[in-house]
Amino acid sequence: MRLLVCGGAGFIGSNFARLRVRDHGDEVVILDKLTYAGRKENLADVEHEFVHADIADAAKVREAMADVDAVVNFAAETHVDRSIAEPDAFVTTHAVGTYVLLEAARERSLRYLQVSTDEVYGSIAEGSFTEESPLQPSSPYSATKAGADLLVASYAETFGLETVICRGSNNYGPYQYPEKLIPLMVLNAFHGDKLPVYGDGMQVRNWLYVEDFGRGIGHVLEHGVPGEVYNVGGPDECPNLEVVRRIVALTGNDESIIEYVTDRPGHDRRYSLGSEKVRALGWEAQVRFDEGLEATVQWYKDNAAWWEPIRSGDYLEYYQRQYGTALGGCGG
Ligand code: NAD
Ligand code: DAU
Repeated sequence: MRLLVCGGAGFIGSNFARLRVRDHGDEVVILDKLTYAGRKENLADVEHEFVHADIADAAKVREAMADVDAVVNFAAETHVDRSIAEPDAFVTTHAVGTYVLLEAARERSLRYLQVSTDEVYGSIAEGSFTEESPLQPSSPYSATKAGADLLVASYAETFGLETVICRGSNNYGPYQYPEKLIPLMVLNAFHGDKLPVYGDGMQVRNWLYVEDFGRGIGHVLEHGVPGEVYNVGGPDECPNLEVVRRIVALTGNDESIIEYVTDRPGHDRRYSLGSEKVRALGWEAQVRFDEGLEATVQWYKDNAAWWEPIRSGDYLEYYQRQYGTALGGCGG
């Protein structure tokens, strides 16, 4: 297959492209705006064609779709804290960008997969969300992602476009930008910086190794029923504080570096996805959290050349704004 992978220079998109080329012999065309989170370095070992463009640029999007078999859309603003501080780009990329992609896919009757998130369902105290659960997003990030999902569904219903939606739980693994919980804590721990835990740290996330999500997305692309939504959840749930404690132990630190900080506004307490529907299609998560977390810490240990240029410059300004405190390590 020849795939257009929008947002493929980011964390999950680059891992997805790598595994599709490696394990399925696919050709990939990456279309990416290269925001702070999009990095060509993520694709250094992946054979691909590259189009530098915004998904909201109709002319470039149409051109990029001219000779592909299917479209997979990862392109998004993805950090909840940034959506609280500066929601603008979340609204334009998720609403206008998704609309432009859908229109171009409709012109060529292309199969279209939208990568979405468990956050569209909101928080759940007990049990797990199914694909029929109501959408109750809490943040500008999840609300605009939910809006994009509804637009995708409307193109299936109204125009008969072959769409599928994959809603993933919290991903972790190589190449994740260190604004997200796990890489942020790992890199801070390497440098002896404080580990900022929001609120009481008892919020629960459903952890999914990034290659498992990539395999799930590929599986749904090939076998999913048009018009349907598929949850792709990780095998293990874990409270944030426990995640941070495990990172402290894996990096040989002691817990005195943990610091409780002001909670995130509108912070969802727990996510949990039921993935029976995608399991019935033949997908299963392969990596348990213990094993995946250890491998991830090791990857960051072995790949300082990847994160050193990130953990300086703009990132230091972002960190200071978000946490009200400077990073001591400054990338070294
Ligand atoms: P990321 O922030 O690492 O990467 C996003 C990519 O999209 C970057 O390469 C960026 O340059 C690109 N991009 C942003 N705006 C764009 C635009 N207007 N036009 C073209 N490219 C643009 O994000 P990620 O964690 O890899 O997430 C990818 C997708 O998966 C997102 O849709 C996200 O909502 C979804 N998702 C993420 C997780 C997670 O835990 N990270 C879980 C479930 C679903
Ligand atoms: O659930 C899927 C979602 O997971 C994706 O759709 C999002 O794109 C992705 O960013 C992620 O959202 P979260 O808000 O769950 O991820 P984050 O890594 O920002 O935070 C995970 C948890 O850790 C959350 O409860 C907030 C907490 N946290 C986060 C940071 C960055 C802290 O306690 N301290 C921190 O410094």
